Amino acid sequence: MRTKMIAGNWKMHNGQKATEAFVAKLEEWLSDDPTGKAAAEAIAAEKIEVVIAPPFTSIPAAVATRTGESLRIAAQNVHHEPKGAFTGEVSLPMLAEAGCQYVIIGHSERRHVFGESNELLEKKLLATLEDESKILPIFCVGELLEDREAGNTEQVLKSQLDAAWSSLTSDVVGDMVVIAYEPVWAIGTGKTASDADAEKACDYIRTQAFERFGIAASDALRILYGGSVKPENSKGILSQKNIDGLLIGGASLDVDSFAKIIATAI
Ligand code: PGA
Repeated sequence: MRTKMIAGNWKMHNGQKATEAFVAKLEEWLSDDPTGKAAAEAIAAEKIEVVIAPPFTSIPAAVATRTGESLRIAAQNVHHEPKGAFTGEVSLPMLAEAGCQYVIIGHSERRHVFGESNELLEKKLLATLEDESKILPIFCVGELLEDREAGNTEQVLKSQLDAAWSSLTSDVVGDMVVIAYEPVWAIGTGKTASDADAEKACDYIRTQAFERFGIAASDALRILYGGSVKPENSKGILSQKNIDGLLIGGASLDVDSFAKIIATAI
């Protein structure tokens, strides 16, 4: 049984005060609300995992406000070197010290707005997996609208995955890597992939993992879907065989809608 992951990618939203308020309200829901309590039990039983990815400067506020381990913290990006003359960057040891358990690598905004290449993203992935901090990567892949319309979705996914994981071993892929499939045309647009399209792409990703790393790794690999996920569509997406969770942008900024999405995972 793969633990389902519900992860909120806050992007450049929520400073320290808003982060404190969010975490306190979410923890209140987990401890006081009947559905929240059921979610807390599912978290304790490792059936689901709830993650938030605040901006770097809000990470300490999230860590200081949470009272237990129910809520995991992710960073939205990382540099592959542990330290050095890299103005504006943050390293894995720094994220570990701040209290992160996960890091998002290769989000489509990093790829397409900030020009991060497959080569750079491989370095980030390898550095994360090799670092003694044991922060786990949530590695994003996904096609542009023009790729989908040209029938090239699988080709794009294959090239992004091949560039990222060609030097990994099966135990690392099975135990440590989370892949997020996020079609770029569905991010922040209100256009969600249909359940069937999301499942088809995630099935393809798992098959790629099987062909390269074998059955144990491909069975253990967690694959998330992201792109305009909302409380209204999360249950259908989560019920797909090869989808093990969600990476949520806009709908993760409001505690009520994030909690509703968590509720559809239990
Ligand atoms: P969205 O963003 O849910 O706002 O579409 C998803 C993401 O970018 O991870």
